[in-house]
Amino acid sequence: MPGEEGAATAKIGNATVNVTHPSILNVVKQRQRVKQALAGVKHRIGVYSAKGGVGKTTIAVNLAFALKDMGYRVGLLDADIDCPNLHLFLGIRQAGEPEYPLKPLEKDGVKVISTAMFVDEAKRPIIWRGPMVAKMLGEFLEATDWGELDYLILDCSPGTSDSNLSIMQLLEMDGFVIVTTPQQIAAVNAVRSGLMARRLGVPIIGVVENMSGGTPTGANVVAGALRCEVLGTVKADKKFDEFSDSGRVAVAEDAEIKEEFISIAKRLVNGGR
Ligand SMILES: Nc1ncnc2c1ncn2[C@@H]1O[C@H](COP(=O)(O)OP(=O)(O)O)[C@@H](O)[C@H]1O
Ligand SMILES: [Mg+2]
Repeated sequence: MPGEEGAATAKIGNATVNVTHPSILNVVKQRQRVKQALAGVKHRIGVYSAKGGVGKTTIAVNLAFALKDMGYRVGLLDADIDCPNLHLFLGIRQAGEPEYPLKPLEKDGVKVISTAMFVDEAKRPIIWRGPMVAKMLGEFLEATDWGELDYLILDCSPGTSDSNLSIMQLLEMDGFVIVTTPQQIAAVNAVRSGLMARRLGVPIIGVVENMSGGTPTGANVVAGALRCEVLGTVKADKKFDEFSDSGRVAVAEDAEIKEEFISIAKRLVNGGR
């Protein structure tokens, strides 16, 4: 029974089952608390690839700002707990004592939370084992006061374990935007990411080809393998490094890049179509 000590109900597929095993019970109960904490958040979208360096953070940040420009209320969560980068892309340099509930920072109308906001020296390595990473992510999900949001965008870490597993287990996700590049290895890892999501019952909204030549190649391979839509392409452009190194958002600075992201955001809002 929900609320009763030592038992809870959980939906597995179409069946509602009674859960009593302590480990599964913990996950079910935390999932219920996260659901409550995010009651004011309409949509939860992860930007994900198992491979590093393909542009997950770049896509998450610019997609968030494109959605904000379209009039939506948007939050960004740095789910790369041990190697946070989001704050650098946004020029945020704040460390503070965590006060509960956790308050996101606001950057040009987008709410942001990252581990980097709660460590003294945001450039120092955070060396944590998996359980600490999962604990911190759980805390972000349970204890952040986002208020009312249309979209919460999660900038995921690479890999297919720890924090990404927690996201898939703890959050009722609308789904993932999978990021690839034209490179074959990136596409292989993007497919791997999609298969993980699918195995855990999380929808794939579509795939974005970053660092693209303009016509999707890698994204077509991924979309074919995962039977999902290509949401769009973002061309390879050296300006991305300049913008992120100076904490500026490409969408706010460059009309051509903005157009690419607005087009992707429109398809995202449309459920991938
Ligand atoms: N479309 C692009 N064209 C050129 N460089 C890009 C593009 N997208 C991202 N980058 C650069 O690639 C690097 C990795 O991007 P990042 O978003 O940090 O990837 P990830 O989060 O997947 O590790 C960064 O230096 C970023 O500025
Ligand atoms: Mg990143």
